Amino acid sequence: MPLTILVGAQWGDEGKGRIVDWLSAQADVVARFNGGDNAGHTVTVGSQTFKLHLIPSGVIHPRPACVLGNGMVINPETLLNEMASLKAAGINVSPARLRVSHAAHLITPAHRALDQAQERARGLGKIGTTGRGIGPAYTDKASRRGLRLEEMLDPPAFAARMASHIRETNMVLQSLYAADPLDADKLSEEYAAYAEKLAPYISDVSAFLARALSEGKGVLAEGAQGTLLDLDHGTYPFVTSSSPTAPGALVGLGLGILRVERVIGATKAFQTRVGEGPFPTEVSGAVAGHLRGTGANPWDEFGTTTGRPRRVGWLDGVLLRYAVRVNGLTELILTKLDVLSGLETLRICTAYRSAGKPYTDLPLGPADLSPFEPVYEELPGWQEDLSAVRRRQDLPAAARRYLERIETLSGIPIRLVTVGAERSQVVETS
Ligand code: IMP
Repeated sequence: MPLTILVGAQWGDEGKGRIVDWLSAQADVVARFNGGDNAGHTVTVGSQTFKLHLIPSGVIHPRPACVLGNGMVINPETLLNEMASLKAAGINVSPARLRVSHAAHLITPAHRALDQAQERARGLGKIGTTGRGIGPAYTDKASRRGLRLEEMLDPPAFAARMASHIRETNMVLQSLYAADPLDADKLSEEYAAYAEKLAPYISDVSAFLARALSEGKGVLAEGAQGTLLDLDHGTYPFVTSSSPTAPGALVGLGLGILRVERVIGATKAFQTRVGEGPFPTEVSGAVAGHLRGTGANPWDEFGTTTGRPRRVGWLDGVLLRYAVRVNGLTELILTKLDVLSGLETLRICTAYRSAGKPYTDLPLGPADLSPFEPVYEELPGWQEDLSAVRRRQDLPAAARRYLERIETLSGIPIRLVTVGAERSQVVETS
């Protein structure tokens, strides 16, 4: 296992945390490369459930080192809270194990305030962001006025930079959005305290990862969000502000392309989306209720970060093929197959139609899907409970046929299927 990249093949929430947990048993290092605390992973181990937003879920295993890459935007308060709760559960989060890139950018309360003010101002055209300050932090990065974590290593200079960042953002908040200003002195003091706590964790993670790979260690690069939320390749403008696709792993960790061995795409057995934006195979009514669940279980379709009910729909084969292409996926991991049990008939979107013409590929990418209508293929469902199945040959014939259809449509094999929230509820399929 040299460098393996794991990305979401849909709009995020594909169950990557769970997969990282599974793959981490063989990894020496797990490295997250994009996004911030807009992401949320729930990992269940026995009776313990962990909710993580920044630290890779590989941390739950005793072995792998954990890395937060330069492609991330980091809210230090969230990071320190996560570290404290892991420590309280007896998990090692010492600086020898957890490393944070010096070149990652900070998210501040000013970024959060701006994110929320901008969403309010968008009105009906809102993106449905998580309100965590992600967009404004990446905007500052691209505008070359962002705060990098390495600045925390020089406390007096950092305090001054922080105060001027808050004052500058206050001007925008007040004049453009009529929002309340933030207290620059108080926040600069608060962030100086965070700097002191985080300083031992900050280093050049690219050098650490390159060394690990040269020593023959296995590195798992974990993407947050998903392909269709990618700033370049997603359903723009209803996207996040980072690069959750596989090439983002190389830029977001500082690694060369020839290191990559496998690129795994995580996809649900159906489709979900949280926030606004196009969703051609979205359903409502009884099927939606079946796919979403009631919210009684932590794995039901309600956001880990925001608690919002997710939009749900049939698996979209056109968008899946697109994800295979832009990521260079070599294999799929299919999650939540068990949720489909009990549906009489399943549908898969195999093509789109526009003005009477069929499309199996997207002529201009997924930004504007409004001209298209999904073309469905119907497959028989199954009634059996899958939660105890562990071998592909033991799945009901209709479930096996569903997997085969997805492999044909995507052109790549399914390596693993999850059939329940517990660590052991997986079917290794090839
Ligand atoms: P932002 O990343 O908070 O700016 O939100 C931009 C879009 O990405 C919104 O539609 C969010 O709902 C969506 N989004 C951000 N993070 C996640 C995630 O981890 N899972 C699913 N959707 C996400």
